[in-house]
Amino acid sequence: MKTKTTKKTKYIDLGERGKYNPKNKLNDLTGKEWIKFSKSWFIHRPIRRKENEILHPAKFPESLVKEFIRFFTKENQWVLDPFLGTGSSLIAAGELNRNAVGIELGKKYYSIAEERIKVKDFSKSIIPSLGSSLDIDEILKSKKLNNIKFDYVVTSPPYWNQLERNSLRQKARKEKGLDTQYSIDDEDLGNIKNYEKFIKNQAKIFDKVYDVVKDKGYMTIITNNIYYKSKLFPLAFDTAVSLTKRGAKSWVLKDEKIWLQDDKPLIALGINNAWVGNRHHQYCLIFRKEENE
Ligand SMILES: C[S@@+](CC[C@H](N)C(=O)[O-])C[C@H]1O[C@@H](n2cnc3c(N)ncnc32)[C@H](O)[C@@H]1O
Repeated sequence: MKTKTTKKTKYIDLGERGKYNPKNKLNDLTGKEWIKFSKSWFIHRPIRRKENEILHPAKFPESLVKEFIRFFTKENQWVLDPFLGTGSSLIAAGELNRNAVGIELGKKYYSIAEERIKVKDFSKSIIPSLGSSLDIDEILKSKKLNNIKFDYVVTSPPYWNQLERNSLRQKARKEKGLDTQYSIDDEDLGNIKNYEKFIKNQAKIFDKVYDVVKDKGYMTIITNNIYYKSKLFPLAFDTAVSLTKRGAKSWVLKDEKIWLQDDKPLIALGINNAWVGNRHHQYCLIFRKEENE
């Protein structure tokens, strides 16, 4: 490992990875890696899921969540996912030597996450929890984690009623006997029929999250706009706006990064009749908690 002294900063030469500045406040990346991630889009093609993971209808790839965790934390820091699903973010955090807590309302998904974590030998605390993220305070208290301030949040809430939509993809899942609803629980955000109510209740959960994140901590929400009943509901944009207007608990919106899905098959939607797009991208919204600004 060579070190090179410039005027003030002593960079650490990490070979192919580039040069690391020990004064880097945010992450363990070199300048070269930092610049690469700063591009406003990326492509991720998830590898085929194992049998039990396919059960969950809306997983994000570990490779994607790993990139975010690597950028927004250093080793040993704490990551939170309030909509855990089958545990992708916890697996990613564990493999990167971060500590992490995930909260999932659905018993079935929680059990899959628990199983996936059990077979790994993580050196850090990787803690899945069953419950609603509205009760995050009680959940953290019950795990004796109420003194933790999380360094970073990465999550993907239900995309409003997307799972219920009678789209071609959902029909295909139904025919295979796979889930088209997360749960029948009233606290499940995915069961809120009214769009405005969904936006409000989602924001209430992120108020709770706000309280357990450190000042200057970042949060990434992966979501999308939704085409439903012949019009586009700007869920990603409304999520961005709603979280920035919460009075004392307002998140600061910093950017969007677009996940391009160039591995999805094109479906004949509205063909010869009217515009219906093949939506092959998702939004990764980047927020920061800036209390003292
Ligand atoms: C889009 S999925 C998350 C998928 C996850 N990122 C993965 O890769 O498996 C959203 C999850 O939020 C859960 N959920 C819905 N309402 C919740 C709530 N109030 N508290 C905690 N989890 C909730 C659903 O059961 C669902 O598994």
